[in-house]
Amino acid sequence: MGGRFARDEEVAAWQQDGWALLDGLVDIDEIDAAIADLRYVFPSPEKFHADPEAHRPPGRGDAELRRGYPEMPVTGPAFRPEQHRFRAEFPFYGSGRLSRLCVHPAIVDFMERALDTIELRVYQAQVSAKYTGDANFEQPMHTDRNHSVLPARMEPPWWHVESFLYLTDVDEGTAPTHLVSRKDAADRSTNSIFMPARDPELYARERAAAGRRGSLLVYGPDVFHRGVDLTRPGGHRYLLNVSYKVAGQDWIGFHAVQSQATHPAWVQFVEGSTPRELELFGFPPPGHPIWTAALVDATTEKYPKLDVEPWRRALPR
Ligand SMILES: [Fe+2]
Repeated sequence: MGGRFARDEEVAAWQQDGWALLDGLVDIDEIDAAIADLRYVFPSPEKFHADPEAHRPPGRGDAELRRGYPEMPVTGPAFRPEQHRFRAEFPFYGSGRLSRLCVHPAIVDFMERALDTIELRVYQAQVSAKYTGDANFEQPMHTDRNHSVLPARMEPPWWHVESFLYLTDVDEGTAPTHLVSRKDAADRSTNSIFMPARDPELYARERAAAGRRGSLLVYGPDVFHRGVDLTRPGGHRYLLNVSYKVAGQDWIGFHAVQSQATHPAWVQFVEGSTPRELELFGFPPPGHPIWTAALVDATTEKYPKLDVEPWRRALPR
C-alpha cells in the first residue's frame, strides 16, 4: 500500500468537529496510475476547454438537465443541475485501479476507526469532474439530505461518513469544498439550507478544504458545506466520492451495486478482491449461512477468476 494510515487526531476531528481533511492519505503515484481510467468517462481538460459544447455528455446539456426546474439566479449560490453533469458510477472500466481506490486500505482503516466498527458498507461510489466555466458551481450552505430518508444523526452507531478522495490537486482556484465545523454551526436545523443574506455568520465560519491529490476529505451527514466555483482559467477538478455506513441501516443509501452485477468492470473488481473487500459491498463472507457447495460452484461460473477457496473451506460439513 502507498500512502499512510490516518492519525488518531484526524479520526477524533471527524468524530467531534464533523469534518477533516486527511492530507496525502493515498500515495500520489497510486492516484496518477488510477486516473488513467477516467479517460473512459470524462474528457481531458485540454479537450474539454478546446470545445466545451462538443464534449458535454449526450442528453446532459443545460436545457435537458434544467427541464422541470424553476428559474434559477444567474449568479450566486444555487443547486444547478448542470453542476453534476459529469458523474460516473462505480465500477469503472479500464485497468481497475480506479475502482480499487474505493477499498483502499487507508480509507477502509479510517472508516473502521471513525465509525468504530468493522461492520461497514460502501453505499455511494462515483467519480465526478468539474471544469472551469462549464457551470456556475456555487452552492448555498447545506447538509447532504439525500443520503438518508431520515434527518441526520451524528452519534454512534447511527453516523456515517461521506468522503471525497482528491484525484487532482485542489486549491483556491479549483473549487475546494467549503465546510463549517459542527460547533460553529450550532443549533442550525440540518433540514434547512441557508442563503448568505439569511445567515452571514454561518458563511463567515466556513473553511476551504484545499489539498493535494491523494488527500481525503471526510464529513458527516450533519455538516454544513457548499461547493464553490472554479476560477482558474482552463482549470478542472476530479474526485472520487465514496461513502461508508454501518451495515444494516436500510434508511441510508445512494447507489445500488446490485444493478451493476453483470458489468464487466464489476466482474473484474470481484475477481481482484479479498472476501473482506467484497463484504464491504454486501457480498456474503465465507461462513455465511447462504453458502452451499452448489452456490460456490455457481459463483465460480459468474466470476471465473475469483479464488473461491475461502468460501468453500468455510462450508458446513
Ligand atoms: Fe453537498
